Amino acid sequence: MQAPSGCPFMNKEEFNPFDLSNPFPQYKEFREEKPVFFSGELGYYVVSRYEDVKAVFSNWKTYTSQNAQSPFKPISPVAKALMEEQGLVGLSGLSGRIPPDHTRIRRIVSMAFSLKRIKKLEPKIRDLAIEMITKFKDDGEAEIVKQLAYDLPALVIFMLLGVPENDVQKVKSWAESRLLMTWGNLSDEDQLIHAQNMINYWNYCQEMVALRKVNPTDDLPGDLIRLQEEGHEITDHEIATICYSQLFAGHETTTTLITNGTRELLAHPESWKAICEHPELIPNAIEEVLRYSPSIVSWRRRALEDSVIGGVEIPANSNLLLLMGSANRDESNFDDGEQFDIQRENSKDHLSFGYGIHFCLGSPLAKLEFKTVLEELTRLVPTMKLKENQEFKFAENTSFRAPTALEVKW
Ligand code: HEM
Repeated sequence: MQAPSGCPFMNKEEFNPFDLSNPFPQYKEFREEKPVFFSGELGYYVVSRYEDVKAVFSNWKTYTSQNAQSPFKPISPVAKALMEEQGLVGLSGLSGRIPPDHTRIRRIVSMAFSLKRIKKLEPKIRDLAIEMITKFKDDGEAEIVKQLAYDLPALVIFMLLGVPENDVQKVKSWAESRLLMTWGNLSDEDQLIHAQNMINYWNYCQEMVALRKVNPTDDLPGDLIRLQEEGHEITDHEIATICYSQLFAGHETTTTLITNGTRELLAHPESWKAICEHPELIPNAIEEVLRYSPSIVSWRRRALEDSVIGGVEIPANSNLLLLMGSANRDESNFDDGEQFDIQRENSKDHLSFGYGIHFCLGSPLAKLEFKTVLEELTRLVPTMKLKENQEFKFAENTSFRAPTALEVKW
């Protein structure tokens, strides 16, 4: 794809947005040399400096989030027809909606997603963490993604949504398809399989809502239906979209946080030792992990009118890729931004949960889960280390970054 005239440009050989193995050195070059450029591979303007990323997130009137969940790669005609038929094209819970609908629905979802509901989950999260760690504690080694980080957030979000244990495996496999369809690089054949999974999951969410209208439950969809019955303006379809997006929003992102965080803390043994000896350092260590090694390195917006970002003219209707992974290390905001420092005072100024009206609603839950996991890992296996000579692999996609496996020993 051609860059608009006069705009800094990078082709696929210069910037491959699907390769997340170690994007940070390149991000630094972008910030210093081409803070805003046009990516030929994506057809998006890429924004890398802290100030610019935050300004775009803050201005929802000029930069809409409606493209945040649209597929990067065109969906094949067959898969698209199948999804259109089932009403799946353009379906979003909150992050792809705009005011006034976004304001109305977010207010109601925030009531259901209260700190009280999250606090209620805390003892269950701790039980799960202890149970999982105890299973591998005597083995002297573990693969953290498979044995802890993948399942724990899924089980927590299933509790929140009230998905019964028997359905967990199938629902999990359907939900994974959404990541691949939206942010991945799939063949036409694979798209069809994943489109069918997404349809299965969407139908499941609609049934969940219908069932709760007959039998009220003590979970997030149950709360949303109660609020609807009390007169808050939210439709059954909107409640189903919230369930549909929660599972995705709350699972892989938190798996990634636990994986990246455990890896970074073990890769900096002095930090691991510090949190073992002083667990009160854990909350800030989590903010620093989110800053330094974010679960989501990039997120999207579309410009609705002509504007200028970082001195570059952005025409109306342009798509933007905001590099939070780069903004979070911007030296103009974070001293020695490339250094991992769990005692950094402004770690929590990171943009890993977005900023502004779409700021992540699940951030307290994600942090609570990782805090609980770290408290139990440092208590039960304080001598944990990374296994030597591991080659970390990262799934090919534009946004969700964490190693697919993490081998540890003690
Ligand atoms: C480390 C874990 C997580 C990360 C990094 C993360 C990141 C994000 C990001 C980047 C956004 C978009 C912000 C924007 O467009 O300005 C977002 C929105 C959202 N997240 Fe999270 N998230 C995480 C965990 C969760 C969890 C556990 C849940 C729920 C259980 C959740 C629910 C949501 C929802 C509902 C939105 C949409 C909010 C809106 O548009 O008003 N997230 N999150």
